[in-house]
Amino acid sequence: MFRVFITRQIPEAGIQLLKDKGYEVDINPDDRVLSKDEIISSLKSKAYDAVLCLLTDKIDRDIFEAAGQQCKIFANYAVGYDNLDLTAAKELNIILTNTPGVLTETVAEHTFALMLAIAHRIPESDKFTRAGLYKGWGPMLLLGTDVSAKTLGIIGLGRIGIRVAQHAVKGFDMKAVYYDVNRNEEFEKDYGAQFVSLEDLLKNADFVSIHVPLLPSTTHLLGEAQFRLMKRSAYLINTSRGPVIDEAALVEALREKVIKGAALDVYEFEPKLTAGLEQLDNVVLTPHTASATEETRSKMAVIAAQNVIAALEGQVPPNLINNK
Ligand code: GLV
Ligand code: GLV
Repeated sequence: MFRVFITRQIPEAGIQLLKDKGYEVDINPDDRVLSKDEIISSLKSKAYDAVLCLLTDKIDRDIFEAAGQQCKIFANYAVGYDNLDLTAAKELNIILTNTPGVLTETVAEHTFALMLAIAHRIPESDKFTRAGLYKGWGPMLLLGTDVSAKTLGIIGLGRIGIRVAQHAVKGFDMKAVYYDVNRNEEFEKDYGAQFVSLEDLLKNADFVSIHVPLLPSTTHLLGEAQFRLMKRSAYLINTSRGPVIDEAALVEALREKVIKGAALDVYEFEPKLTAGLEQLDNVVLTPHTASATEETRSKMAVIAAQNVIAALEGQVPPNLINNK
């Protein structure tokens, strides 16, 4: 019988699939992130054949080694996998998988929710109204910015970037420009989109939305110099990974009104926020919840479980990430 360790409670749908296979499933009983030492001692307590881990678990060589040679797979419950040591996994012959595809729609929706929230000053207006400050309609009260017909700059044209562009172009008559390591001419044709340099994107976009994975080449892709290229009226949206932005430089740019505002779901040092960020009015902040709908988190659990099952049954898991 195979044994699976899950580093934190996930939706039941995925756990049930594993149990239906007759696997023994152990789950971290506390609803919190385990420390490295705790993961290691859990993995040493039994010979697990598979580990289902989360983006908040930093999985390195020590953890793979603690899991032992019988352990075939670490299935990441996330599309992003910057938390996994790919090199060590390859050397130790451990399969790694992620959960792409199922969260595209939800993250694209959340990106748009953030974009509309910052442009229409929704959290500020909500706070204002709850505080009893609303004394009557006013022509100059809490004026925001239209999203429609503006230029959206997409940094990273993967599945999520493309879906955000669809909403923008088809739903809001926006113009799309994008920057990526690869050009996508079909996308350009379908959405009248333009492939531009990062510099041109920053100079021309009214909204800049980031959809790149976290890699050495995307770490601090946007910092002080890049914010200075942006329009003073521009907004920055980030639902990818925090360290893509130099957060201290962003706080400074927002404070100095170098750009108009930012809406963030991810943070450079999350769950910590850079000092000063939460005091700003021109930001909207969500706690890494861009994929957090009941539907999507369930689907992610199912996909992660299916990857575990495939690996344990000797098949190639559908969402292999190493060896690519
Ligand atoms: C969430 O951030 C994910 O990568 O799934
Ligand atoms: C992630 O799913 C992406 O490709 O954007």
